[in-house]
Amino acid sequence: MDNRAIGVFDSGIGGLTVLREIIKTVPYESTIYFGDTRRVPYGPRDLNEVKKFVFKITGFLYEKNVKMIVIACNTSTAAALKDLKEHYDIPIVGVIEPGARTAVYNTKNKKVGVIATEGTVKSKAYSEEIAKIDPEIKTYSVPAPLLVDFIEKGILEGESLDRTINEYLKPLFEAGIDVLILGCTHFPLVEKRILACSGNGIKVISSAVETARDVKKILKEKGLRASDRNKPERVFYETGMDSKFFEVGKMFLGEEIKEVIKVKLDM
Ligand code: DGL
Repeated sequence: MDNRAIGVFDSGIGGLTVLREIIKTVPYESTIYFGDTRRVPYGPRDLNEVKKFVFKITGFLYEKNVKMIVIACNTSTAAALKDLKEHYDIPIVGVIEPGARTAVYNTKNKKVGVIATEGTVKSKAYSEEIAKIDPEIKTYSVPAPLLVDFIEKGILEGESLDRTINEYLKPLFEAGIDVLILGCTHFPLVEKRILACSGNGIKVISSAVETARDVKKILKEKGLRASDRNKPERVFYETGMDSKFFEVGKMFLGEEIKEVIKVKLDM
């Protein structure tokens, strides 16, 4: 038994969608969430710069004595998962491989669409991961950076959001996809609108559920599970000053966030 916390981080509030699934799946585990709301979005940045941020945040969480780290951000996963795994002696879990696996399992016509940040699309992380599992599948990826802006501002519905979603999805529908991966942890926050704009017949996938399952499996395999008598603690850190952490956080985490500790991390 190991009652230390699991560290979870994202560039902003999007990773809360992953945290929510982790809490549902392993409710006795304590968690420390870190949102780099001062530097969000990571998507348009050079992946080497993102990697630098990711190493700083991981170092911060490691010093808090976490037993495992979940990179609840696709861009960060694409930029640094491999290097982080080599560098740290605790399990590190990303969100791309679980999402790719779920898409492969669900596609019937072998045409998978991905909406993600520019960084994730440029990295080709999804198409490579999918091709590793089934090389016959064609992956079509579209960068959708404006959706991150809407979400970080707390705009989760409305005409201009729908218009933007439709523009991003158009080329994917034209390509004939039957599965759409939300390749950015922010996007499940507008999943209802994405579903409404997608019409019938398209399966929309976010990697949060599958990632949480991986977390459970790894904790068991490594003997790192918390006792089921553990009283889990929920700690939140952020680097920004005026994010929508409380409002949006509460709505989507399904639990009230009572305190978010501001932290200055020199990058
Ligand atoms: N949460 C990030 C991701 O999953 C997107 C937001 C950003 O661009 O920083 O890629």
